[in-house]
Amino acid sequence: MDNRPIGFFDSGLGGLTCIPPLMKRLPEERIIYFGDTARTPYGSKATTTIRHFSMEIADFLVRSDVKMIVIACNTVSATCVDDLRERFPNIPILGIIEPAARSVAESCTTDNNIGIIGTKVTIASRAYESCISKYSRDLSIYETSCPAFVPLIEEGIIDNDIMDLTIKYYMDDFVRGNGLDTVVLGCTHYPLISRNIRRIYPQLRIINPSSIMAETIERILGERDMLAKGAKTDNIFYASDLSENFINMIDHIFEGESDDAKVKFLNFDLENGERHI
Ligand code: DGL
Repeated sequence: MDNRPIGFFDSGLGGLTCIPPLMKRLPEERIIYFGDTARTPYGSKATTTIRHFSMEIADFLVRSDVKMIVIACNTVSATCVDDLRERFPNIPILGIIEPAARSVAESCTTDNNIGIIGTKVTIASRAYESCISKYSRDLSIYETSCPAFVPLIEEGIIDNDIMDLTIKYYMDDFVRGNGLDTVVLGCTHYPLISRNIRRIYPQLRIINPSSIMAETIERILGERDMLAKGAKTDNIFYASDLSENFINMIDHIFEGESDDAKVKFLNFDLENGERHI
């Protein structure tokens, strides 16, 4: 048993989409979340920059005594998992792409045409393709980046024509041209627009990696006898820039039940330390 918190991080608020499935599956676990809202998006930045930011955040989480780090960001998972594991060899570190790739391989056959959508960095890394091919060869995989999705989502531009037009701009040719029947949301921000995608392409099966993580976290902690028991206290959500959008998005993701989720918001400045609000 280990009652220390699990540390999650993302470039912004997208990684929050991994939290409700975890709270449902492992209600006794405590969470520390860090969203780097001051420096989002990561998905079009250089790998060295992403690595530098990720190391800073992981350092902070380790100082906060987390028992495990979950990289709730595809962009970081595609580029820095090995660096983070090398720096913190004594702490389990889970990237989102590994469990997602396994789930794609298990749930698809060679009859499927599978599209992966993600940030520029994730798609350029081909991390999904190479990870999926470890589990299953010969699947038909197509990838495309949708770089305007994250800034719009961070701005809360979701339930409207601007987002729908942007989805069509990136996805119409991609879906129709490749005859896709399945799409993988290869960015943790994208579950926040999955309703739009479903409405525009009702025939597509949507695979949402954010909802798949919880099972793998349970297995990793269970194998090490590190699951929490009976000492649940507040979850903490840090943001490097605690914007109104971040707080609204927490309400949106927890569907107005953030009180029940016992969240405590803190603004955090990586250089100068934390500021409570
Ligand atoms: N949520 C992120 C991901 O899963 C990061 C997006 C970004 O910052 O560009 O890739």
